[in-house]
Amino acid sequence: MDDLKAKYLDLINSAQDEATLEELRLQAVGKKGEVSLQMRSLGKMTAEERQVAGPALNALKNDINDALAMKKAALADAALNERLKTEWLDVTLPARDRRVGSIHPISQVWEEVTAIFADLGFAVSEGPQIETDWYNFDALNIPGHHPARAEMDTFYTHRAEGDNRPPHVLRTHTSPVQIRSMEANGAPIRIICPGRVYRADYDQTHTPMFHQVEGLCIDKDISMANLKWVLEQFFTAFFGTSVKTRFRASHFPFTEPSAEVDIQCRWEDGSVKVGEGDDWLEVLGSGMVHPKVLQAGKIDPNEYQGFAFGIGIDRLAMLKYGIPDLRAFFDSDLRWLRHYGFASLEVPTLHGGLSG
Ligand code: DAH
Repeated sequence: MDDLKAKYLDLINSAQDEATLEELRLQAVGKKGEVSLQMRSLGKMTAEERQVAGPALNALKNDINDALAMKKAALADAALNERLKTEWLDVTLPARDRRVGSIHPISQVWEEVTAIFADLGFAVSEGPQIETDWYNFDALNIPGHHPARAEMDTFYTHRAEGDNRPPHVLRTHTSPVQIRSMEANGAPIRIICPGRVYRADYDQTHTPMFHQVEGLCIDKDISMANLKWVLEQFFTAFFGTSVKTRFRASHFPFTEPSAEVDIQCRWEDGSVKVGEGDDWLEVLGSGMVHPKVLQAGKIDPNEYQGFAFGIGIDRLAMLKYGIPDLRAFFDSDLRWLRHYGFASLEVPTLHGGLSG
């Protein structure tokens, strides 16, 4: 027994891996192992012999099992130490420089416009980009034969053959949200509707998708004077300087009277400065909402009236941040985005002057 013990403790001690340990376990204390065989021979012994040999064999078995367990733990420790050596990490190293994304100028201006109008008490309302021709045209007093339909270079969706319903359109302006919000909320209303609009047009100042913000204010005593004041407040807050406006009589099917609004500017080496000089730049269309449009929105024109306006968000961004070509807005050129983009923490606030 002493020989067996010495032999196995020695073998266990010098084992290099778990597989060897398992083999040794089977050889020594497995079913057919040497110690187990010895135990089987207990039956052939006399009672006195068994009293000595039995406990001794049990003790041997325990010793071998203990040695196996200890060695197994030691091997696991050694393996872990080995791994820790190779997987070492210097947590004091400086972090790797990762490129941070930037806020697109359109998103920035969208937020700025929203912040200014929110301060003036306007809520934000949104509508679908795929519209029925009723919301995009008819409800806005643009009937089927009206030249405005052709002028707007509308994208029409496709209808299945035999389906004679008028096709849906990609909305050509944000004005249909006026109707949707009148229907949904009734008067009084004070909202802006920023969003994407679509027209088949492409050059330095036109892209097939661009952005507008619509304004709508309906109540019992709203006039052009309110419109003028609101827009002047807006431009002054947006450009961070007092900006003179000029209202020019114009025509839109959905307003009567209608006015296009210019802001004061100066041209300098091909770029434009807003809020100074003697030139004028057209920036929006506006007017008093046409009675037919109120009716389409289920509002009684004998009781309520109000103003509406539509501004190009992209145009505002170009003017405020000196961006010359509209097309670059949508090229996703990283160099352009890094140059004109804004840091995510430059959140526009009125008290911060709104500029990035
Ligand atoms: N919907 C017009 C356009 O896209 C802009 C516009 C003009 C909107 C006058 C208005 C408005 O609400 O009163 O060209």
